[in-house]
Amino acid sequence: MTVPSSSPEATLIDGRAISEEILAGIKSAVESSSIIPGLAVVLVGSDPASSVYVRNKSARAKDCGFQSYQVNLPPDTGEYELISVISELNSDASVHGILVQLPLPPHIDQKKVIEAIDPEKDVDGFHYVNAGKLAVGDSDGAFIPCTPLGVMVLLKRAIGSNLSGKHAVVVGRSNIVGKPVAALLLAENCSVSIVHSKTIAPESICRHADIVIAAVGVPRLVTADWVKAGAVVIDVGINRVIDDSGKSQLVGDVDFECVRQTAAAITPVPGGVGPMTIAMLLRNTLDSAIRTGARAAQSSGSPS
Ligand code: GUN
Repeated sequence: MTVPSSSPEATLIDGRAISEEILAGIKSAVESSSIIPGLAVVLVGSDPASSVYVRNKSARAKDCGFQSYQVNLPPDTGEYELISVISELNSDASVHGILVQLPLPPHIDQKKVIEAIDPEKDVDGFHYVNAGKLAVGDSDGAFIPCTPLGVMVLLKRAIGSNLSGKHAVVVGRSNIVGKPVAALLLAENCSVSIVHSKTIAPESICRHADIVIAAVGVPRLVTADWVKAGAVVIDVGINRVIDDSGKSQLVGDVDFECVRQTAAAITPVPGGVGPMTIAMLLRNTLDSAIRTGARAAQSSGSPS
């Protein structure tokens, strides 16, 4: 779908429908091949939001014909114990993707745990090897983090595949979203600015953008005066707020109702970027299984 450069009200980019389409493609690719991708999802503790995410990831993996392993560990699991679990998964040939749900309890060093994952099974794309490949523009054979990948798919559905020369502003500089999405936009020949908590007058930079990616975790930070008429706005934020009537509500980092009057296209929250993350996780895991099969065929001398 190509959106016009400006329109009276923004086109909604339906992440739910697009993710279902991608998941259906993954499911049919698995059904028509002899490969059974294996995904291990590790959860330490019982944080309610993390538990829901992990259950959804495992359920969607099963729906797509994957072998799904869910490892639930108690909240007092030690760092050494967790790294031992990861080592076992690293050497299990039926596991092609390993995801350790973040955040981890404070007594565990997150960096050490991520570095313990075999980079060839790091379907989250958080290991230094994968982050480094993306940073130097060598993303062939690297795993790219799932949410940034989902953002790029939605963006291309809205604008078309050629993003060259567009001015993109990323609001937020996290390792999980802001930095990798900026690297992906740069790889597509966008001019990229990152604005963050120390940026002076971020709205004046954002106002020049053709593409706005909001990934900062501040409810409704991006208002209509941040957004140029005709811009495409992708909202990665998922924030729980209490509305005027005292009800709990999920909102993004973008003030959706006012920005939709200005933008050409916008993602809703929920139903925008969120559902894309699982689809991209399963796509990375399928890719990992295919690469493993190709490596095995190469080392045995048979055609892949
Ligand atoms: N916690 C929130 N988002 C993510 C994610 O994409 N991957 C992992 N492993 N944990 C998360």
